[in-house]
Amino acid sequence: MSKVTVVGAGYVGSTVAQYVAEKDISDVVLVEIDALEGVAQGKSLDLMQAAPINGHSRSLKGTSDYANSKNSDIVVITAGIARKPGMTREDLLRTNAKIVQEVAEKAVKQSPDAIFIVVTNPLDVMTYLAQKTTKLDPSKVIGMAGVLDSARFQAFISMELNVSCEDVRAMVLGGHGDLMVPLPRYSSVNGIPITELMAKDRVDALGARTRDGGAEIVGLLKTGSAYYAPGASVSQMVEAILRDKHRLLPCAVMAQGQYGLNDVYIGLPTVLGKNGVEKIVELKLTDEESALLKKSADSIKENINLMNQLLVAV
Ligand code: LAC
Repeated sequence: MSKVTVVGAGYVGSTVAQYVAEKDISDVVLVEIDALEGVAQGKSLDLMQAAPINGHSRSLKGTSDYANSKNSDIVVITAGIARKPGMTREDLLRTNAKIVQEVAEKAVKQSPDAIFIVVTNPLDVMTYLAQKTTKLDPSKVIGMAGVLDSARFQAFISMELNVSCEDVRAMVLGGHGDLMVPLPRYSSVNGIPITELMAKDRVDALGARTRDGGAEIVGLLKTGSAYYAPGASVSQMVEAILRDKHRLLPCAVMAQGQYGLNDVYIGLPTVLGKNGVEKIVELKLTDEESALLKKSADSIKENINLMNQLLVAV
């Protein structure tokens, strides 16, 4: 019987809990801070009451006590704040770094053998921090972003060509931000490269919309950011790990020489199985693609340095 702990019972965390339980992947413990324990309990109870209708026997438990997360197979960290108007990037970095550090420390004490999936933004930097804090092997600390960014690219390709998204595969690498790297050459409709199905300017436009995919949703929702696609993306990674599926998915992972990058978390094609990252797949990139990936990695490294300074200053 598997156990997944989701820290943070906001929209993203509770949607992760919902998909993981309703797809019959695992039992779920939803953890919140003391002041919001009722929210975790209420959402878990609500989902338990939906279970007879949705037809699964998974249990969901809301709590503020990390003891309930003991011996989890997977810990998903969604806790943190979203950037609000007037807030600087440094403010967000400082606040979420403190939250992720505290959460990772508490969670790893209860579940030293768990695989950690980080969702809190800025994604690549927070995943790096979670790995440094837990001191787990980097293969066991993984960031969720590439699955989401690729799903967005897939959705836009399917809308553009009016073909089922079931036949669309796409690959987006790099950091989760303005410098992500959509790879049209490796994106296809049932094996047909999209570059053969649409003009270059349309490919570029869909890539740009993917890059701004998170901001587009924030602009529409006004009071928050996306949660259905992020929640679904996490549940796919959780399923790949718990069912040892060896799925090849883009995830934020610690580069250790691959693509000429070192000591940085960034989105790369990864094989996920029961041990977490089983392999980072090295593609032969064009000079332009490599340059974009390098630029993305440089920007993540800058933010890691900034975060380290902010944490020392606390
Ligand atoms: C997004 C934010 C939440 O991409 O990272 O939707």
